[in-house]
Amino acid sequence: MTTHDPAPDTTEADGSVAAVVVLAAGGGTRMKSRTSKLLHEVSGKTMLSYAVTAAQHLAPQHLVVVVGHEREQVLAHLDEIAPHVQTAVQEEQNGTGHAVQCGLADLGELTGEVVVTYGDVPMLTGETLAELVGTHRALSHQVTVLTARVPDPTGYGRIIREGDQVVRIVEQKDASDEEAAVDEINSGIYVFDAATLRHGLDNLTTDNAQGELYLTDVIRIANERGERVGVHQITDLWQTEGVNDRVQLAAMNREMNRRIVEKWQRAGVTVLDPNTTWIHDDVTLERDVVLKPNTSLEGATSVGEGALIGPDTTLVDVEVGAGAHVVRTHGSLAVIGENAEVGPFAYLRPGTELGAKAKIGTFVETKNAKISGGAKVPHLTYAGDAYIDEGANIGAGTIFANYDGVNKSPTHVGRNAFVGSNSVLVAPVDIADGAFVAAGSAITEDVPAGDLAVARGRQHNSSNWIGRTRPGSKWDEAAQASSGEVHEAIQNKRNELNQSMEGRA
Ligand code: UD1
Ligand code: MG
Repeated sequence: MTTHDPAPDTTEADGSVAAVVVLAAGGGTRMKSRTSKLLHEVSGKTMLSYAVTAAQHLAPQHLVVVVGHEREQVLAHLDEIAPHVQTAVQEEQNGTGHAVQCGLADLGELTGEVVVTYGDVPMLTGETLAELVGTHRALSHQVTVLTARVPDPTGYGRIIREGDQVVRIVEQKDASDEEAAVDEINSGIYVFDAATLRHGLDNLTTDNAQGELYLTDVIRIANERGERVGVHQITDLWQTEGVNDRVQLAAMNREMNRRIVEKWQRAGVTVLDPNTTWIHDDVTLERDVVLKPNTSLEGATSVGEGALIGPDTTLVDVEVGAGAHVVRTHGSLAVIGENAEVGPFAYLRPGTELGAKAKIGTFVETKNAKISGGAKVPHLTYAGDAYIDEGANIGAGTIFANYDGVNKSPTHVGRNAFVGSNSVLVAPVDIADGAFVAAGSAITEDVPAGDLAVARGRQHNSSNWIGRTRPGSKWDEAAQASSGEVHEAIQNKRNELNQSMEGRA
């Protein structure tokens, strides 16, 4: 038999395996979800995407995902994340052996190695798969099983050995007491020589407690032909863990996050409280970033050197520049420039772009807002569909009224322009460079460069109104007792302002 010949063929010479088959046809009943189990997320990515990434690490000639349950969802997702993978349908879930038969059905005659793995084992890495293949080649096995010794093997297939040879794998439901006591378990991940796998699959039967075609029987059949079946044992038990319910999903997320946080700590990121800091798998951080408690960095968020994020901050697909401070903020699809300041209590919605050293302050909401370098939106503002140029200052309580109930329109505030507090800028409206808007204005017309716009009623004081309408009241008593002079701090400031005006004149 050529399958006994360990001489490397061309497939082995360039290191790539003939095929990886990812089994993903089973149901996820215990998840109790309308969403396929495989599309539930761990650290911001679907379980299936981890399986595909690990498989791609082997650069296989064929990568096949076997789908079945909720296959429309699964296929649509694969189309998004990995449009080049092949898929095969397993109509009825007649067991893992049947699933691999379905996976190989369209691939023709293979030579070389076939790796089988699962779609719901998110912690398994491509490196581990490569090591599995490495062991398989180094020891000239026809089958190598990825195994682990676990404290509680209940539910898993048990590895029955004679020395280094695996003679068979026994499922929990088929195991004798003695077999059930074995603590070395089958992860369900294997590498097979293609011909051994083919022969085994052709000879499977449903003669077992579950009436299924067991992939594990390929190992018994290979033994009958005197082939070498060994193990690649790993100690990182998480890598063999599947997810079957939401309790396991949470545990998996916690552990994956612990690993991601530790990776960034080792790369030079300060994480004050790893237990309340969540970092998605695709996030990138530069050195000397500081993450304060209750911070969640999600999606494709990136954070530049020395930036400080948190506490209590969630950023989804946000780009944060070096040295920026982002405090108690929720942001998505936004860009924060170098040394910019955001928060506390800011809400950055999609399309927010904050320039270098610019500021979005407390209780400020932004959406489609281009806020250029050095511009400031410090307090209590909604800025939607806004272009705020360099050095402009938006006073407290300014509202960019961008929506008339039907249409959204833009507002422009020019370079070094100044918008007084509690103004409404009714879009579309243009406040030109260096223009001023008086506090409390409702601006509906453009303000030319350098002009001052006042768009509100003039102040009128009704003389001795309290004395006339409420004589003897506590207000009247205070008014009567008053010296009638303005507060010292205000008078001082006026004097100072007058002097500086005279100085300039
Ligand atoms: C299987 C192994 C067992 C191993 C365990 C590890 C067999 C007979 N048993 O058991 O030795 O310890 O995995 O988790 O192989 N699947 C399909 N189509 C099917 C059946 C399963 O695609 O018809 C997929 C599932 O989606 C899942 C994987 O194969 O990703 C394993 O299926 P599961 O039913 O969980 O197998 P176990 O009985 O746990
Ligand atoms: Mg299982």
